[in-house]
Amino acid sequence: MISDILQLEKSALGELAEAKTQESILAVRTKYLGRKGLLTGLLRNIAQVPADEKPLFGKRCNEVKELLEEKIEEALKLQAQGKKEAILAKEKIDVTLPGRSIPPGRVHPVIQIRREICEIFATFGFSVVEGPEVELDYYNFEALNIPKDHPARDMQDTFYIEDNMVLRTHTSPVQVRIMEKVRPPVRILSPGRVYRPDSDVSHTPMFHQIEGLLVDRGISFADLKGILTAFLKKVFGSDTILRFRPSFFPFTEPSAEVDIRCVMCRGKGCRVCGQSGWLEILGSGMVDPAVFKNVGYDAEIYSGFAFGLGLERIAMLKYGISDIRLLFENDIRFLKQF
Ligand code: FA5
Ligand code: MG
Repeated sequence: MISDILQLEKSALGELAEAKTQESILAVRTKYLGRKGLLTGLLRNIAQVPADEKPLFGKRCNEVKELLEEKIEEALKLQAQGKKEAILAKEKIDVTLPGRSIPPGRVHPVIQIRREICEIFATFGFSVVEGPEVELDYYNFEALNIPKDHPARDMQDTFYIEDNMVLRTHTSPVQVRIMEKVRPPVRILSPGRVYRPDSDVSHTPMFHQIEGLLVDRGISFADLKGILTAFLKKVFGSDTILRFRPSFFPFTEPSAEVDIRCVMCRGKGCRVCGQSGWLEILGSGMVDPAVFKNVGYDAEIYSGFAFGLGLERIAMLKYGISDIRLLFENDIRFLKQF
């Protein structure tokens, strides 16, 4: 009978040595030490052991039981630790590896130009204000001296939302909104998106303008010329050649468009400037007394000038871009260059 115990001990330890997973170790425990286990069975049969062997038999059984419990406990511990180590080994991070670089984004060329222009005008004392892109007909046209059914509306093709509401065709309505709210002196700059049903190499249905407005006592056309000249020389360089060309806008009188000598052909005439040697860059003029009347300014006391420029046009000239649509295709290879 004692030999049964030795046999059982040997096979239990052997099986335990083979058990590599938590489940198999627990299975060994159940097999030998469980309620219906082999060792438990031996102990239960103690009645059949000869009387003189009983004490030794019982003692050996208990020794083997304790040994097995200890070994199983140990095996379980080692197994859990091994698993943890395996996980740690698998998830090990090599902190000496160089990081993966994420290419940085950059500011869109049109927005770069917008920032640059706002900074230049800030040095002239202009502050930035914004207005709505969905605009009432009144602000986009009527208050700017462009009555309904007037031929001047044809100068700007328009997306209508409703009878009396449009996608603004220019940033000039912001002039009116500001003058309705504040008394002179006024020095504002208003950048933003505008919309016209237009599309070719130099026109897109959505583009950006910046409006400028300065109103005070004693402002003359010389102030307009001085400020716009200083501004354009800062953007395009001090050797830039400009011309002020008489023009017409219903909301300014007199009006002038400003051209710069073509940056592509330096005035010789090319495809970009339509062989004229000059490129239109902005519209401007002295605020028409009719506009002052609409906002309740006294044209006998105050005068001022306004201008509106196309940002894409400036970006194209400054960076030599020959098709305006490239600015809106979001091709990274194109945008990366600025
Ligand atoms: C105006 O929009 C006037 N509001 C400008 C103005 C303001 C005049 C204040 C006097 C006083 P014009 O329609 O010419 O003017 O447009 C101004 C500039 O916007 C143009 O010189 C051009 O650079 C740009 N532009 C016009 N249409 C488009 C278009 N479809 N795509 C891109 N740029 C355009
Ligand atoms: Mg124009």
